[in-house]
Amino acid sequence: MLDFDYYIPTEVFFGRNKIQRIAKKIKKYGNRILFVYGQGSINRIGLYDEIVKILNDNGIVYKELSGVKPNPRIDSVIKGVELCRQNNLEFILAVGGGSVIDCAKAISAGFYYKGDPWDLFLRKAHVLDGLPLGSVLTLAATGSEMNGNSVVSNADTKEKLVISSDLLRPRFSVLDPTYTFSVPQNQTAAGVVDIFSHVLEQYFSPIKEAFLQDRLAEAILKTCIKYGPIALKEPENYESRATLLWVSSLALNGLLSYGKIGDWATHYIEHEVSAIYDVTHGVGLAILTPHWMEYVLKESTTNKFYEYAKNVWGVEGSNLNKVSQEGIIKTKEFFYSLGMPSTLQEIGVKQDSLEEIAKKAIIFGDLGSFQKLNKDDILNILKNSF
Ligand code: NZQ
Ligand code: ZN
Repeated sequence: MLDFDYYIPTEVFFGRNKIQRIAKKIKKYGNRILFVYGQGSINRIGLYDEIVKILNDNGIVYKELSGVKPNPRIDSVIKGVELCRQNNLEFILAVGGGSVIDCAKAISAGFYYKGDPWDLFLRKAHVLDGLPLGSVLTLAATGSEMNGNSVVSNADTKEKLVISSDLLRPRFSVLDPTYTFSVPQNQTAAGVVDIFSHVLEQYFSPIKEAFLQDRLAEAILKTCIKYGPIALKEPENYESRATLLWVSSLALNGLLSYGKIGDWATHYIEHEVSAIYDVTHGVGLAILTPHWMEYVLKESTTNKFYEYAKNVWGVEGSNLNKVSQEGIIKTKEFFYSLGMPSTLQEIGVKQDSLEEIAKKAIIFGDLGSFQKLNKDDILNILKNSF
C-alpha cells in the first residue's frame, strides 16, 4: 500500500427530507448564493419550489444559473463566474446530477482565477481557491457530490477535460433517494455503469498489495449488479435507489483509491468520445470498458482479471485465462442487460473520427497505469469498440 493523506470533508445528509438542513449550513458561509441547476428536471419533481421556499424563508438571497446541459459547457461556467462576481455571491448551491455539480465546481474555481476558466482545464493554471459550494444530488452516478473533480466540455474546441482539487469538494451534499425516483431508465442504467467503471478504474491498478481496498471495491461492484436491475424495473423502490445513491458517492470519494494508483484510461477515452458526439458518459463507458479489458488482458495481467471474475462474478475454474475471459463476457452481458449499446457505431460515432478521438485522449500524455496505452493502443481499442 502507498502512503496517503485521508481527506473526505463533505458532510452528507442522507435520507428523506434532509433538504431542510441546507439553510443552516449555507448561512455559515453567507446569505448571498448562486443557485445552479439543469434543464428542468428539478422543476418537474417539485424540488425547485421546495428549495426556493427554504431560501426565502431563511432570508437567503439567490441568483439563478439554469439550463446547465449534460456534459456541461464552459460557457455556463463563464456565465456563473460573472454572476458571482457582479452580485458579490458567497456560496454556490448545485442541484442536479453530476453535470450541474461539475459546472458549479468550475465556477467555484473560476471565481478566483483572473483569466479564462478554460485555462484551468488546459492545465495552464492551477486551482488556487474555491468559492464554497454544496450540492443536492438527483442522480446516482458520478460521485461528484463527494469529490473534487469537475469535468467540463468546450463546444468550440470539442474537448472535454477534467480539473481536480480538494478545494472543490462540496462542503455538504444532500442525498435524498426519493429525488432519484424520476431518473429515466437510460440515465439510471448509465449511472450504474459509471459507478461500476469508477470502481474498475481503481481496482485495476499497478499496486498489487491493497487487499482491503480491493474487497471494498468488489462489494460495490456486487451492489451495482444486485440493485441496478431492481432500480430499472421498479424506479420507486426506495432501497435500490438509496443503495445506488450511496455507492455512487463511495465509489469515487477517495475511499477505494487511497494507497493505490488508478488507471482511468477508459474514462479519458470516453471523455473525448463525449466531447465530439455529446453522448451520455455511462453509455460511452459501457461500450469501451469490455474492449479495454480485452485489450489489456495478457499473461502479466491475468491474475487480476482472474480475481475479478472469481470474486465479483463467481466464475469457477482453474484455467486462469478462460476464467478471466469469462469475467469480461459477464461484464459485457451485464451492461447489455441494463439496455446499454455495445458498439460506437450504434451511438452515431463515425469511423473516420476515431483517429481524432485517440489524439485528443493523449493531449497530456499516454494513458493508463495498470497498462500503459499510447495513441496506437487507444486507436486499436476504439476500432475494436466500433
Ligand atoms: O438537465 P436536468 O434537468 O438536470 O436533467 C438531467 C439530464 O438530462 C437528468 N436528471 C438528473 N436528475 C434527474 C434527471 N431527470 C429526471 N429526474 C432526476 N432526478 O439526467 C440527465 C443527465 O444528467 P447529468 O447530470 O448529465 O448526469 P450525470 O450525473 O451522469 O453526470 C454526467 C457528467 O458528469 C461527468 C460526466 O463526464 C458528465 O459530464 N463526470 C463527472 C465526474 C466527477 N465529477 O467526479 C466523474 C465521472 O467519471 C464523469 O466524468
Ligand atoms: Zn465516470
